[in-house]
Amino acid sequence: MGIRKKILNFANPILKPLAHWYLSKPRTYTFKKIKIVVYPGVFHPGLFFSTKILIRHASQQKLDKLRILELGAGSGLLSIYCAKQGATVTASDINPLCISNIQYNAKANNQEINIIESNLFELVSPDDFDIIYINPPYYPRKPKTLNEQAWFCGENYEYFNRLFFQLKEKKSTITKVIMILSEDCELDNIMARAKIYNLKFDMIRSESAWGEKNHLYSITNE
Ligand SMILES: C[S@@+](CC[C@H](N)C(=O)[O-])C[C@H]1O[C@@H](n2cnc3c(N)ncnc32)[C@H](O)[C@@H]1O
Repeated sequence: MGIRKKILNFANPILKPLAHWYLSKPRTYTFKKIKIVVYPGVFHPGLFFSTKILIRHASQQKLDKLRILELGAGSGLLSIYCAKQGATVTASDINPLCISNIQYNAKANNQEINIIESNLFELVSPDDFDIIYINPPYYPRKPKTLNEQAWFCGENYEYFNRLFFQLKEKKSTITKVIMILSEDCELDNIMARAKIYNLKFDMIRSESAWGEKNHLYSITNE
């Protein structure tokens, strides 16, 4: 079982109260010399591996002058990293709490980031970017609060259905979409949904930590 599930789950009598207590206060976190504050309710990039794997991947690319979107940016750590490498960065999120957290962290790190509250591509167009990074919610459950949207993608994977539909509609062939997914989620199910819109997943990196494998995919038009 992956670390997200262990912390969310829920039935674990030790981890659940511990995680709830820890995540009930603003916490500082430093990675690659970037110091951020993570507001309670915002996805903590230090407690899970996905954000760090995305940053390690980004650190091997030449980002200078590229136009980058982090879709669903949470605390904004990856966006700040990319901005520090000279990219022109947009950080979007559906949750207003994340928007104020990203604003706070961008300012604290002296980075200019375009920060937009948007449900998927409603107010940002995939066409405007060279790279789009996505660390999505992937548990099939209906989110009951705004904060739960960091975890739950809807009972019928509505997040992915809408995302793939919009990518097919609007993505130009040169926009690179990089998504991280854990083996903890129903990978085949998610990829089958992408296939409906002729989108193809190619694995570009895989990392294991604490018994959980995370895969990085490049999503292209078939
Ligand atoms: C797993 S967290 C990842 C946060 C951040 N990218 C990171 O790697 O640390 C998923 C993020 O996506 C956001 N999100 C969920 N549904 C969204 C939607 N429909 N449109 C935009 N953002 C969304 C959540 O609010 C959350 O901040």
